[in-house]
Amino acid sequence: MRKVLVLGGDGFCGWPTALHLSDAGYEVIIVDDFSRRKTDIELEVESLTPIQPLGERLRVWREVSGKNIRHVVITIGKEYHRLLELLVTEKPHTIVHFAEQRSAPYSMKSSSHRRLTVNNNLSATNDILAAIVESKLDIHLVHLGTMGVYGYGTAGMKIPEGYLKVQVEEEGRFVSSEILYPPNPGSIYHMTKAQDQLLFAFYNKNDGLRITDLHQGIVWGTQTHQTRRDEYLINRFDYDGDYGTVLNRFLMQAAINYPLTVHGTGGQKRAFIHIQDSCRCIQLAIENPPEKDDRVKILNQMTEIHRVRDLAKLIADKTDVAIAYVDNPRKESPENDLLAVNDQLLEMGLQPITLSDKLLSEVEQVAKKYSSRCDQRKIPCLSKW
Ligand SMILES: NC(=O)c1ccc[n+]([C@@H]2O[C@H](COP(=O)([O-])OP(=O)(O)OC[C@H]3O[C@@H](n4cnc5c(N)ncnc54)[C@H](O)[C@@H]3O)[C@@H](O)[C@H]2O)c1
Repeated sequence: MRKVLVLGGDGFCGWPTALHLSDAGYEVIIVDDFSRRKTDIELEVESLTPIQPLGERLRVWREVSGKNIRHVVITIGKEYHRLLELLVTEKPHTIVHFAEQRSAPYSMKSSSHRRLTVNNNLSATNDILAAIVESKLDIHLVHLGTMGVYGYGTAGMKIPEGYLKVQVEEEGRFVSSEILYPPNPGSIYHMTKAQDQLLFAFYNKNDGLRITDLHQGIVWGTQTHQTRRDEYLINRFDYDGDYGTVLNRFLMQAAINYPLTVHGTGGQKRAFIHIQDSCRCIQLAIENPPEKDDRVKILNQMTEIHRVRDLAKLIADKTDVAIAYVDNPRKESPENDLLAVNDQLLEMGLQPITLSDKLLSEVEQVAKKYSSRCDQRKIPCLSKW
C-alpha cells in the first residue's frame, strides 16, 4: 500500500484530503501541531461546524471505514530531527504539504503576525525539503500553493501554469526562454508562497527532488463524500474576518440573513474550487508525479473564476439577502481581470463541481444547520493594510 504523509492534516483542506486518500486505499499518516486550533483561541473564534479533536475524528473514521490513519504531533520547521526520523522510519512515497499559516489578513495584523507567518511557512518548507534530501529517499512532494502568487492582474492574457514563455531582444535578435511566472504577492502570506516557489526550484535543480506545486484557488464548500459519513467527521468552516474565505463567508451570511460583505466595489476577480475537487486534484497530482529529471510541476488548481460582486448577486438573488458594500480593508486594485489556464488537471480527468451544482445545498445543509454557533461580532474584517 502506498504511504502518504499529510502535513497539516487536521486543517480545512488537510482533513478531508487525508480521508479521501485513506478511502482511495492509501496508508495515511497525519502530521500536525494543532497551531490552527490554537489560533482560534487567540482570535476568540470557533469553526461554524462543531469539529472534533483529531483523536476522536480518527476513531470514528476507523469505525465507519475500517481504515486506520495514524497521527504524529510535530511542529514542522522547528523539530527538524523528529521530521527526519519520521521520514527515515516510515519511508513515505509522497508528502502532501499543507502545514503553513494560510490567512492573508492574519499575516497582516501586526509585525508579530508577519514574522510568525514568514518564520512558520518558510522554515516548514525548507525543513521538509532538507529532510527529503538527508533521508536519501525518493519522495514526491506535493505542495499547496496559491493562485495569489501570480497577483491578480493579467495584462489581458491567460495566466499559464507556473511558467511564462518570454522573448528578450538582444543586439537585434530575439532570445527565447521560459521563466517562473513573475510573482506579485499581495500580502505577507502570499509572499511566503512566492518564496516557497524559489525553494522548490532550487532543491529541484540542485538535489533532483520531485516536486508538484499546486497553485490553488479559493476553496469553498465544507463537506466531502468522506466527511459526510458521520457528524464527528465534519470539516471545519471558517467564517470570521481573518480565516473565512469570501464564498464561504457569503454562504454563512446568507444563512443568517446578514448583508453580504462586499469589499470596495467587489470588482475583484478570483479563482475558486470546491473542497471535494481539491481532494480529487491532490490525488491526481500524487498519481501523476513529475519524472526524476523534470522541473517542478506547477498546476493551477482551480475550476471557476468569478467577480466578487457577481458572486454576491448570485447568492443574494437565490436567498433574498441584502448586499453591503464596505470599505476594502486590503491594498489591492478595485477591479481586476483574471484569466487562467487549468488544462493539466482537466487532462488528468478532473470533472469540476460548479457553483450552480452546490451553492444552495451548502447554505441549507451546513451554514443554516449550524448558524446558531455563529458569533456575528467576528464577521467584519478588522485586519487592514
Ligand atoms: N483554504 C483555502 O481556500 C486555500 C486556498 C489556496 C491555498 N490553500 C493552501 O492550502 C494549505 C492548507 O490550507 P487550509 O485552509 O487547510 O489551512 P488550515 O489552517 O485550516 O490548515 C493548516 C494546518 O496545518 C497545521 N500547521 C500549520 N503550520 C504547521 C507547522 N509548522 N507544523 C505542523 N502543522 C502545521 C495547522 O495546525 C492546520 O491544521 C495552506 O498552505 C494554504 O495556503 C488554501
